[in-house]
Amino acid sequence: MNYNPAMPSIADMAAKARKRIPAFAVDYLESGIGGEFCLRRNRGDLDNVILWPRYLCDVGTVNTHCRLFDHDYDLGIGVSPVGLGNMMWPNGESRLARAAQAANIPYIYSTMGTTALEDIAANAPDVGWFQLYVPRDRAIMRDLIERAGRAGFKALVVTVDIPVGAKRDRELKNGLILPFRITPRLVAQVIRRPLWALLTLRHGMPRFMNLMPYSDSGDIKHLGEFLTQFFCPGVSIERLQEIRSLWQGPLIIKGLQRGSDISAAADLGADGVILSNHAGRQLDAAPSSIAALQALPSSLRERMTVMLDSGIRSGLDVVRARALGASAVFSGRSFMYALAAAGADGPRQAIEIFRDEITRTLQQLGCTEFEAMSADYRLQTTDNR
Ligand SMILES: Cc1cc2nc3c(=O)[nH]c(=O)nc-3n(C[C@H](O)[C@H](O)[C@H](O)COP(=O)(O)O)c2cc1C
Repeated sequence: MNYNPAMPSIADMAAKARKRIPAFAVDYLESGIGGEFCLRRNRGDLDNVILWPRYLCDVGTVNTHCRLFDHDYDLGIGVSPVGLGNMMWPNGESRLARAAQAANIPYIYSTMGTTALEDIAANAPDVGWFQLYVPRDRAIMRDLIERAGRAGFKALVVTVDIPVGAKRDRELKNGLILPFRITPRLVAQVIRRPLWALLTLRHGMPRFMNLMPYSDSGDIKHLGEFLTQFFCPGVSIERLQEIRSLWQGPLIIKGLQRGSDISAAADLGADGVILSNHAGRQLDAAPSSIAALQALPSSLRERMTVMLDSGIRSGLDVVRARALGASAVFSGRSFMYALAAAGADGPRQAIEIFRDEITRTLQQLGCTEFEAMSADYRLQTTDNR
C-alpha cells in the first residue's frame, strides 16, 4: 500500500483536513452556492451509477493508462484548477505540480493560483495544463496566453462558467470577500490552527502571483478593486475564436453543460471539453456533471474529447464516469484535502489512493483496461435510467 492506512480514502483526508486548516479556509474550499443543492446533486447522481461486474475472467494485470491529446497518462484522473491553492498548505501548488509530474497525471493550474505560472510549468513540464479565466482586457489575455505557451504548458483550459461572481453565503459570513479584511474572527480561527499559521507566516501570505504584472499589488488585501474589473462578463464565441487563433496546442473549454454549447465549441476548433458545474459553486439549479454527460448526444464524443469534474472523490467515481462516456475526469477538492491533511506528501498519497481504487474497481468489474470501460458495465434500472 503506497498511502497512509490511517487515511485510506479521500473522505478520510477531508476529515483530517478540516482539523488542520482554519475554518475560513475550509468554508472557502467546501462551500457551494445557495442551498448547496447542486453540490449535493453531484454526489447523489454519482452514487446512483450502478456498475455490473463480469466474473469468469483473468484480471491479474490491469492497464490504467488514459490517452489524452497525444499523451499517454498513467491514470484517467487529473487535478482541476483551484485558486488560492497555497492557502490549503504553504507551497502546496508546487508540491501538487511535482506529484502530478511524478505520477504522470494532468495538472491544471489556475489563473488564480498563488505561485508564478512559470514555476509551476517548470515543476510539471510534461503534464501541466494552464487554466485561463478570460480577462476583460484583451492585452492581459494575450499576455497570459503567451506566458503559458512560453512556460511550456501542454494545453490551455478556458473556464467559461463564471459570467458573474457567485454569491456564496458561507464565504460571505466568513468575510471572504474582496477587499479582504483581517477581522478578529479570522484571527481567532488562525490561532486555533498553529501549525498552518506558523508555516503560512514563514512562507508568506498567498498572493495572486500570475496577476502581479498587471496590478500594482498582487496581494489579496489590495487586489479587490483590480479583480472586480478583471473578469470578462461572459466568454463569447468571438473571444474563444480569438483564443483559438492565439493558442497552437490543445484547447479545452471548461464549464460547459449543454450539447449546443459543446457543438459550438467543436465548430470553432476546440479539442476538448470539461463538463463541470464548478463544484456546485455557480448555479444551484445546474445539473450534476454526470447528468450533463448522460444528456449529451453520443455523436459529440466523436467530435471532441469529453471529460468532466465536480464531485469525483474515489477511483470508483473515475470508473463510473468512464463507463458513462467521459474520456477522463478531474477533481479539485480531493487534492486540496490531500494537501491540507498531509502537507507535502498529501498529493502523492491522494494519487495513490485513486490508483489503487481505480485498479481494484476495474478488477472487480472484470475489465483489464481503463480505456475499455464502457456502458456495457453499467446496470440500467428503472430508478437510474
Ligand atoms: C475552492 C475552489 C476554487 C476553485 N478555483 C477555480 C479556478 O481558479 N479556476 C477554475 O477553472 N475552477 C476553479 N474551481 C473549480 C474546479 O476547477 C473544479 O471544477 C471543481 O473543484 C471540481 O469539483 P470537486 O472539487 O468536487 O472535485 C474551484 C473550485 C473550488 C472548490
